[in-house]
Amino acid sequence: MSEVYLSRSPEETREYARRFASGLRPGEAVSLCGQLGAGKTVFMRGITEVFNCQDQLSSPTFSLLNIYHGSLKGEEVTLHHFDLYRIKTIQELAATGFDEYLSGAYLAVVEWGDRFPEFAGRYTATVRLEHAGDDLRRIIIERTGL
Ligand SMILES: Nc1ncnc2c1ncn2[C@@H]1O[C@H](COP(=O)(O)OP(=O)(O)O)[C@@H](O)[C@H]1O
Ligand SMILES: [Mg+2]
Repeated sequence: MSEVYLSRSPEETREYARRFASGLRPGEAVSLCGQLGAGKTVFMRGITEVFNCQDQLSSPTFSLLNIYHGSLKGEEVTLHHFDLYRIKTIQELAATGFDEYLSGAYLAVVEWGDRFPEFAGRYTATVRLEHAGDDLRRIIIERTGL
């Protein structure tokens, strides 16, 4: 079952992300897919807003993993944000401890999650962003609900 939305601006994409994220639970893992510039990081920013995370997305050192500490309804939430864009091989990915980060009572959001089909079965939701002209983006959300 998938939901499809049409976003007309980054703000609207963040709003869809906030609605989506309000239903997430610790232990879930989200695969964020789409070409460069599709809006994966914008969507991620909307997710961090729901959990009141400190904004670290513009950190110059951000490459593979950013860890956020936030909260939801008074409960602490740890959010692991991966960007697999620069990871070339499954060995390289394994060396980062990715497998462990996907497990446990954390919330994981993985940009370019579809680059490594080996982990496809670990995601509880997939969000695909597609260019649909100028500032238009199609957002396709599939819950795989493990
Ligand atoms: N509707 C939209 N939703 C998301 N981003 C948009 C939209 N319209 C234009 N943009 C722009 O597209 C770019 C998306 O960048 P980013 O989120 O970093 O992409 P990605 O992480 O997928 O490579 C940003 O510059 C953003 O301002
Ligand atoms: Mg990105």
